[in-house]
Amino acid sequence: MTTAPTLAANDPCWCGSGRRYKRCHRIADVDPARAAAAQAEREAAELAAASFVRPGRLSPRREVPAHIPRPDYALDKHGRPSFRESGRPKDAETIALMRVAGRAAAEVLQEIGRAVRPGITTDELDAIAHEGCISRGGYPSPLGYNGFPKSLCTSVNEVICHGFPDSTVLQDGDIVNCDVTIYLDGVHGDTNATFLVGEVDDASRRLVQVTRECLDVGIAAVRPGNRVRDIGRAIQAHAEGQGYGVIRAFVGHGIGRTFHSDPQVFHYDNPAARQVLEPGMTFTIEPMISIGDWHHEMWDDGWTAVTADRSRTAQFEHMLVVTDTGAEVLTTVG
Ligand code: MF3
Ligand code: CO
Ligand code: CO
Repeated sequence: MTTAPTLAANDPCWCGSGRRYKRCHRIADVDPARAAAAQAEREAAELAAASFVRPGRLSPRREVPAHIPRPDYALDKHGRPSFRESGRPKDAETIALMRVAGRAAAEVLQEIGRAVRPGITTDELDAIAHEGCISRGGYPSPLGYNGFPKSLCTSVNEVICHGFPDSTVLQDGDIVNCDVTIYLDGVHGDTNATFLVGEVDDASRRLVQVTRECLDVGIAAVRPGNRVRDIGRAIQAHAEGQGYGVIRAFVGHGIGRTFHSDPQVFHYDNPAARQVLEPGMTFTIEPMISIGDWHHEMWDDGWTAVTADRSRTAQFEHMLVVTDTGAEVLTTVG
């Protein structure tokens, strides 16, 4: 390479780029170390930007056949539910229906998990959720709920929850939470899991494993006489004991004939959650755990929640009923 360090600042650069010398190779000629540092910084920034999740393109709205019974909100322009069930214990008939809906949701989630691999789009996972619900005679509960545009929530890496399935292509090393809810025979079944995409680094694998354990210790705290607060206390102790953060902004919830009702199930120790657990109560536990900080931010779409520090998060969810001695998990394929 030949250089012409005698060029004036505003001369065309010797390299033929057509740019002024001062905007092109002058720094590299005068101070190669500084130029190399600037280049490394640009590359690092590019890499970081590429590794964070960005919104993709949404596919057209998926249709639900006319014979599938719809929840009330699916008929409302804004997707608003017309009633909210109480958090009181359910009768045996409702619980039996929730057992069926819970199993259907778990089956659909399993189908999605089998499809997760590098190269698949989150929209393709949405199609599996959509067809999986419909083929079982159910309605995919997220579709149209308060304006949610798709049949599944897909939350990749630093996305905490409520991500839109879109043209995003899952990459080797990603983690993706898929949250399935089906409305079947008048009740909802709600469950989610975080899946590994190809070869995932140790730190993320550990996050996923500990988050699964957080759901387990939460379920283990469910028994008549305990309070809702005890669930969150157990989860928080386990997560923070591993150096992780518990996302505060999203909670588990009562569920049954409506998607979300009382009680609110905090995943941290909240003294306000004084309600005593009684047999027949049905609700979800769905801890969202962060490798870093628990604070969140929202994307402009009004739904997608990400960690403020962009650290990765994982989540697992089950729907359960309080029994005389503990909890029965309703969202199993078993
Ligand atoms: N399934 C989610 C939950 O666990 C709720 C999703 S609401 C939606 O509560 F609108 F995003 F679908
Ligand atoms: Co839920
Ligand atoms: Co859910």
